[in-house]
Amino acid sequence: MAVRRLHTEQPEGFAFSKANLAWAKKEIGKYPKGRQASAVISLLWRAQEQEGWVTEPAIRVVADMLDMPYIRVLEVATFYTMFHLAPVGRKAHVQVCGTTPCMLRGAEDLVAVCKRRIAEQPHEVSADGDFSWEEVECLGACVNAPMVQIFSDTYEDLTPKTFEAVLDAFASGDQPQPGPQVERMSSAPEGEWTTLVELPQKAQDSKPRKAQAASDKDETEHPPPDSPKARKQRKARPKENDKPESEAARTPGKAQGATKPAKRKAKAADTPKNGKKGT
Ligand code: FES
Repeated sequence: MAVRRLHTEQPEGFAFSKANLAWAKKEIGKYPKGRQASAVISLLWRAQEQEGWVTEPAIRVVADMLDMPYIRVLEVATFYTMFHLAPVGRKAHVQVCGTTPCMLRGAEDLVAVCKRRIAEQPHEVSADGDFSWEEVECLGACVNAPMVQIFSDTYEDLTPKTFEAVLDAFASGDQPQPGPQVERMSSAPEGEWTTLVELPQKAQDSKPRKAQAASDKDETEHPPPDSPKARKQRKARPKENDKPESEAARTPGKAQGATKPAKRKAKAADTPKNGKKGT
């Protein structure tokens, strides 16, 4: 990942618009006293939506509003790639995921498209000011690799051709449909469904009668442990049987037959010490 630093050229100041200021105050009010810092990400995001990128003056304003040291807000802004630290393209800022799954599935080809169509270097705005791009780490849609994020939306399952079609749509002022750019819904398999093809009730109805009867019988003989029937069965069970067999065997006289050592002891008592049986 590239080092994330504030842009070398910064505006003089920053102020939230009236509507955004009202929104920000409401947002801060959602958190308990002393925990206003929790609103830092949402305020930075709103500042970015207003200005197009996160400026240093905006970082200071947000820090003052939340009673935070400037450095803490700077840390947040420089950590998350969702925050743009330099001006970006007016129509699209393309964030190409370059982490392993996307790289293995063709992210380098998408970067090549960015270099050819937008600018040779990341964070460089195109000549017409409409586009910019950068490479970022995993954006959490690995199963749809390779993918890019443009502002708040992701475009997935891309090839250089479909990626160019997405860029064409942005260039002509359209908002292309986000998500997979192939025939599949979200991350479901392409083509026909192969699993969960029946509704549960349908599956139940289609059970063969014999199998259904067997399962009913099993339920009668082995009712669920908490059912009244199971409790009745437990009550009716002889107490001795509740003990594990090994415990019963360890208790002399309580088991059905005396244990072997007990038997030997009884025999020895009947036999005189000289080894001859008494008359
Ligand atoms: S690796 Fe690209 S989205 Fe996760």
